[in-house]
Parts: sequence; structure tokens; C-alpha cells
Amino acid sequence: MRIGWSACYLSPFRHNTKTLADSLLITGASQLLTLRGSGPRRGDSLSNLGVIKDGAVLVRDGVIEDVGTRAEMEALPEARSAEKLDVGGRVVLPGFVDSHTHLIHAASRAEEYELKIEGASYEEIARKGGGILNSVKKLRAATSTALKERALAALKQFAAHGTTTLEAKSGYGLDVSSELKILGLHKELSATQPLEIVSTFLGAHVVPAEYRGKAGGAERYIKLLSESLMPRIGEARLAEFCDVFCDRGAFTREQAKRVLQAGRQWGMAPRIHAEQLSRTGAAQLAVQLKATSCDHLEQVNKSDIQALAKSETVATLLPGCDFHLGLKHYAPARALIEAGAIVSLATDYNPGTSPTLSMPMILSLACTQLRMTPAEAIAAGTINAAYALRREKSIGSLEVGKQADIAVFEVADYREIPYYFGWNHCWMTVKRGRVIHAAE
Ligand code: NIG
Ligand code: FE
Repeated sequence: MRIGWSACYLSPFRHNTKTLADSLLITGASQLLTLRGSGPRRGDSLSNLGVIKDGAVLVRDGVIEDVGTRAEMEALPEARSAEKLDVGGRVVLPGFVDSHTHLIHAASRAEEYELKIEGASYEEIARKGGGILNSVKKLRAATSTALKERALAALKQFAAHGTTTLEAKSGYGLDVSSELKILGLHKELSATQPLEIVSTFLGAHVVPAEYRGKAGGAERYIKLLSESLMPRIGEARLAEFCDVFCDRGAFTREQAKRVLQAGRQWGMAPRIHAEQLSRTGAAQLAVQLKATSCDHLEQVNKSDIQALAKSETVATLLPGCDFHLGLKHYAPARALIEAGAIVSLATDYNPGTSPTLSMPMILSLACTQLRMTPAEAIAAGTINAAYALRREKSIGSLEVGKQADIAVFEVADYREIPYYFGWNHCWMTVKRGRVIHAAE
């Protein structure tokens, strides 16, 4: 190679992070999935991947300079002097955009996993002080250093599974200092490792133990969020979005509305955990507030589906939760797609309902459980997920002018990405033109 690989990021990415200077020409893609086109994918357009056979991409300074067939790209004058990377007949696609994660948490909840298998429900465990409150106790007791180490190990794995951008929510702190500790870590991690992290404030995850069961407790907690926390988050620009868990055992629709409106005043755009355990009307609230995304949607009804279909709010489905909790009632993906909603997919990486960070696994679940086709699942995890983070101008497709955020899979046909479930076929991950993961 003309230009040698060299380390560019701090540990722990040092060992497999390499810098590609100047121009890079990637060739040898049996299928190059461009996901080109304008606007979010609705209905039939969700399955249009814009495939180029024997595809190639020319990258300059981390940005896509041109995309086409190998012959077209090799004919460009700039291609001659570019660094060459032949991917040997593998499949090339935009890096996955994971638009819903709870990245920062202190520990697993494997003990609750076992209780659930023995018959306890997620909500029963939560009522006894387990669930989210269990993670809150652990996070409050953890040091920033320990939380950072755990998150860095996870981020390395996100990259190893083809993810190049992820959203990260707070919500296991639930007091001023612990929530700021989490949001501060989002900021620090964004600056010190290669994955792009989009920060969301989820102070309204549940009412914390010290406010529970007390007269006006929930209201006093909402006051703390909007009067003590949000101004600090807004002033320090620690979060781009504000989220609320609007459900039985968490916040009502009316409380969610007030929290999201307060968040908006501090510059945070709304997104909602909606209709997961029970139907609360949160999906229609999301549409009313012009929320960027509304997530989960297992319990939506026909009128919710119609409302989402007519809106710009992305319907983000999280099949990892139902799979992990052993629930049979998945979100009605087909009805949402056929009605014309903007459907996206995410891991919901968290210790309680979805301890996976693998987008390929989520694609497998989307295919077998949500009856989405492999093409629909890929579009939902790339370009539509970019819309769910308001990043559609810079990521989510391989088009001229966008960031060179690329995943290369060790398969010859894109359908094999979800087909090989529970098996990581990601061969290389590139973020802004830099290789951040390469398989052995
Ligand atoms: O997205 N539903 C609320 N929040 C998470 C679960 C959090 C937890 O159980 O720790 C979710 O499923
Ligand atoms: Fe979640």
C-alpha cells in the first residue's frame, strides 16, 4: 500500500484503528448498497437499496467523493493516486445507525433475566424495586471511570458489528449529579473515540425511589427535571434530544407532554418511548409534538398507525426487547410499512430489556419476527435510522458529499447479513474514511 496504516485514536481502538490519508478507493464490492435517493423511505421504497454490482467508492478526507462501478471509479483521474482497498467480493453498505441505546449503565441484570425465565414479568420485577431502579442504584454507586471503561468496551463492539453512529440516552441516574455524570460521559466519549454519539436526556425514565409513593412525588420530580436539570443541560449543550418513557409504571401522556415541551425550550428535540407495555396514546402525542422519533410501538392501534403514516415522526422498532423478554407480541411492522410510516430499527442496547449491541442480530429479528424483508431491514437500520437522529444529510447512505461511514460484510449477498443470525460477519468498519475495525 502506498500510504501505511497508522494508529489515530486513543486506546482501546489503538490496536485495530488505522488512518487512511488523502484519497481511498474501495473496490471489489460484489454488491455495493448505496441506499441513494431523496427523503425517508416509506412503503415500497423501503426495499430499494440502490445496489451497484462490482461497486466502488472513492473517498477523500473522510467524505464520499464518488460512487459507481469499479470501471467508472477507476477511470477517474483521482483514483490513480488513491490508496487502494480491494474488499474481495464482499458486500459494502453504509455503517449502521443505531438510533436507540442506553449506552451508559453500570452492570448487567442477569439475575432478573433468570427470574423472568422462571415466570416473573418485567413489570412485576420493576414493582419490587428491580428493573430500571436496580440499574439506577448501581449507576449511582459507580465511578465515572468504571462507567467509561464499560462504555468503551461496548463501543468497540458496536464498531465490530458495523455500527458507525449511535444515539445514547441518560436515564439510569435520575438525580442531578448522576444524570449530568452520564451526559458528561456522552460528551467525553464523543471526543475520544471514533464512533459518533448522539446524546439524549432521559431524566423522565421512571420516578426515582426517593420521590415514589410520596404525595406529589412525580410532580416534584418533574419540577426537578425542568427547573434544575434542563437549564444546566441546555446551557452546556449536553443533549440534542429529550426522551420520556411514557407507559404504565413510568410517566403519563400528560406528564410526558410537559417534560418534552420543557425539553424543547432548552433546545432538546422530542423523542418518546411509546406504546411498549401498554397503550397510552404516546404515539399520537409524538405526532402532535412533531417528535423526531417514537420508539417501541408494540401496542399501537390502527389510528396510531394512520397518524404515524401521515407524519414525519420516525417509527423506530426494537424487536430485541420482545425477543429478550420472551414476549410474542412484536410491533406491527408490516402494517406500519404498508400504511406509509417511516420505519426504522435499533438495538435498544440496555441491561433490562435488550442487552445486545448487534444491529445484524436486530436485522435477523426484524426479518423473522417482524416479517420485514432483508432489504427493508437494511434500509430501516441505515437511511431511515439517520432520519431518526436528524443526521440524514451526513450519514445513512453512500452518496457523494456524505461521510464515508462504511461497513463491509463477509458475505456475497446482502440477504446473508440477517440470514446468519447470532454470527458476526462484519469484516471491516470505516468511520469518516478511517478503518476503526478490521476482522482478524
Ligand atoms: O427501552 N422502556 C424503557 N426503557 C428501556 C428499558 C430499561 C430497563 O429496563 O433498564 C427500554 O426497553
Ligand atoms: Fe429504550
